[in-house]
Amino acid sequence: MQSTVVSMENGKDFAVVNRTGQNRALPHRMLQLLVVFLGLCFIFSVVSVYMIRHYGADNVLAAAKPSFQPCFEKEPISLERWIKPPSKLLHSMSDEELFWRASLVPQIKKYPFNRVPKIAFMFLTKGPLPLAPLWERFFKGHSGLYSIYIHSLPSYQADFPPTSVFYGRQVPSQVAEWGRMSICDAERRLLANALLDLNNEWFVLLSESCIPLYNFSIIYHYITKSKYSFVGAFDDPGPFGRGRYNENMAPEVQISQWRKGAQWFQINRKLALIIVADTKFYPKFAEFCRSPCYVDEHYFPTMLTIQAPNQLANRSITWVDWSRGGAHPATFGSADITEPFIRGILENHTCPYNDQPTSICYLFARKFAPSTLQPLFFLAPKYFGY
Ligand SMILES: *[C@@H]1O[C@H](CO)[C@@H](O)[C@H](O)[C@H]1NC(C)=O
Ligand SMILES: *[C@@H]1O[C@H](CO)[C@@H](O)[C@H](O)[C@H]1NC(C)=O
Ligand SMILES: *[C@@H]1O[C@H](CO)[C@@H](O)[C@H](O)[C@H]1NC(C)=O
Repeated sequence: MQSTVVSMENGKDFAVVNRTGQNRALPHRMLQLLVVFLGLCFIFSVVSVYMIRHYGADNVLAAAKPSFQPCFEKEPISLERWIKPPSKLLHSMSDEELFWRASLVPQIKKYPFNRVPKIAFMFLTKGPLPLAPLWERFFKGHSGLYSIYIHSLPSYQADFPPTSVFYGRQVPSQVAEWGRMSICDAERRLLANALLDLNNEWFVLLSESCIPLYNFSIIYHYITKSKYSFVGAFDDPGPFGRGRYNENMAPEVQISQWRKGAQWFQINRKLALIIVADTKFYPKFAEFCRSPCYVDEHYFPTMLTIQAPNQLANRSITWVDWSRGGAHPATFGSADITEPFIRGILENHTCPYNDQPTSICYLFARKFAPSTLQPLFFLAPKYFGY
């Protein structure tokens, strides 16, 4: 203690000595500088007065202007600035900031520009996209009608070449675990990032094991002409449905409103906004839908059933095979990919579309292992039309 005090005192003394040492030399220097400064001022005002008399104030100011210009916007603000999607998907916003920004909605319904509505394809993945070549072929020739977003584990470094449709399409991600609220957080994060592009009108959630079952034109037409959004939502009276309801969720959620469904949704912009802006149901599900309640199977179907029941088709358009039993649907390998198998996915379905029966019920299918890429690539032109 003693020694630090002493050294501090010493330091102070030193500073005082130093300052007094300078004190004598200073006034003289300052005086010299002042004279030079006053001289310059005088010359400058004489020159100014002379120039303003001869050329007029406006011209002199105009001549001086270019040197100031970089301080101001070069062009006036145009509409472009508000409607252009962000050029880079990476940003430094927190979820709270991002969701707030994404929830901003124009109050005038008619767009004052030619808006071409796009489908946002949102990939919720662990890391790589092994079926990317199939998707590349699917998207080819349709730029302007879709945008892509990828949420992967934050540790994963994507290495798509700049020519790929997946290049630079990663959004800031966080660890997401199946069955936990963090998976819903990841889905909301994908939606919020996609909402930042005003032209995205429909939002499709996919995984790395999904494939498209039709060509782009058919899928675009099917989704954009649908009166309803495709969210799997059904009332399951059993232990894995209503059995997972917790009375503490009332009054926000009643047991009669409790719904179940796989999370692979396809929704319009209005429903995407409802999901991103939700602060009412989120805390209830985060607190009271925990194992053995799988929150990703209940949160969106229930919350949308309460808030927008008339906009839901209550069915998913992603085909999956539960026939093998167990807690997970079947994953197919290369040996499964035969022509009868593909026909089985595409044929003999009936379901309502815009309140009329149709045979096209599924636009996507899962779960396909990386080994299926080659046989699928070979069969896609014949069966999927791309
Ligand atoms: C998509 O598939 C349909 C039906 O198979 C076909 O009529 C259409 O020409 C295809 N579109 C493109 C762009 O290939
Ligand atoms: C979907 O279910 C809700 C109630 O859960 C219902 O109001 C709505 O009409 C259903 N949608 C269709 C297309 O039948
Ligand atoms: C579809 O149904 C028809 C008539 O019932 C049947 O002949 C055909 O084999 C079925 N296709 C598949 C792939 O199951």
